[in-house]
Amino acid sequence: MAKMQEKTPQTPLEGGPQHVAIIMDGNGRWAQMRGRPRLLGHHAGARRVRDIVEACPGQGVKYLTVFAFSTENWKRTQTEVAGLMKLFRRYITRESRDLFERGVRVRFIGDRVRLDDKLVTLMDDLELLTSGNDRVHLTIALNYGGRDEVTRAAKRLAYEIEAGNLSYKDVDAETLTQFLDTQFLPDPDLVIRTSGEARISNFLLWQSAYAEYEFIDTLWPDFTADEFAKVVGGFAARDRRYGAVKA
Ligand code: IPE
Ligand code: IPE
Ligand code: MG
Repeated sequence: MAKMQEKTPQTPLEGGPQHVAIIMDGNGRWAQMRGRPRLLGHHAGARRVRDIVEACPGQGVKYLTVFAFSTENWKRTQTEVAGLMKLFRRYITRESRDLFERGVRVRFIGDRVRLDDKLVTLMDDLELLTSGNDRVHLTIALNYGGRDEVTRAAKRLAYEIEAGNLSYKDVDAETLTQFLDTQFLPDPDLVIRTSGEARISNFLLWQSAYAEYEFIDTLWPDFTADEFAKVVGGFAARDRRYGAVKA
C-alpha cells in the first residue's frame, strides 16, 4: 500500500479536475435491453465502480463522488428498492477490505434516518475503517437529494440559532456550507451523467454551481476506465470563467 501511495499525484494533473462527481444512470435500461430484471443492471453497475475508483489516481482525481440512490428513488417498486438496499449491504460487506487495502477513504452523504440500521452500521464501520486513507476519497451518495440536504442544513442552522450558539447575522454561504453533508469535500469540478439524460436529478445542487457537466450516452454498466479517462482528459480544454471576463 505504501508503494501505491508514493505513485499517487498529490495535485491534479495540469488543468485536470480534482473532484469528479458521477450520476451513475442507465442500469435499468442496460438490463431491460437484455430482457433481464432491472436488478441485474444494478449489480452490473456496482461492479463498474471499482475500475473507476482505480482510474482516479492516474488522472490526478483525488475526490470521486457517486450517486447511488436518490431521495426520489423510494418511488420505485418495493422489489427494486429492497433489492437495491440488499445490494448496498452486500457491496459494503464484500468490498470493505479491498477498499481499505487500496488506500480508498470512503464516506457517505445523504440522510441515514430512512435507511435500515444494519446498512447504517456497515456504512459507519466502513467510514471508520478507511478514515486514515488518503489515496482516493470516494464519497457515496445514498438516500441523497440536494434539496433535502440543503433543507436539513437549514434546519440544523436554525437549531443552533435557537439554542443561542449562532446569530442570524452569522448566516452566509460559507456557514451554510459547513452544515451540508459535503462539508469535508471541495466543490465538484466536473459532473458526469451517463445514459444520455441531460438533467441533474437533485444531485449536488449547491456544490455544482460552477461545475462543468458532461452528459454521455453510455449506460453506466458499460462505462469503462478508458471512457472515464477520455472525459476527464477533455476537461482541461474548458475555459472556466466563474462569471468573470478573461483578458
Ligand atoms: C441508476 O440506474 C441507478 C439508480 C437510480 C439506483 P437506473 O435504475 O435509473 O437506470 P434507468 O435510468 O432506469 O435505465
Ligand atoms: C438519478 O437517476 C439517481 C441516481 C443515479 C442514483 P434517476 O434515474 O433516479 O433519475 P431520473 O428519474 O431519470 O431523473
Ligand atoms: Mg435512471
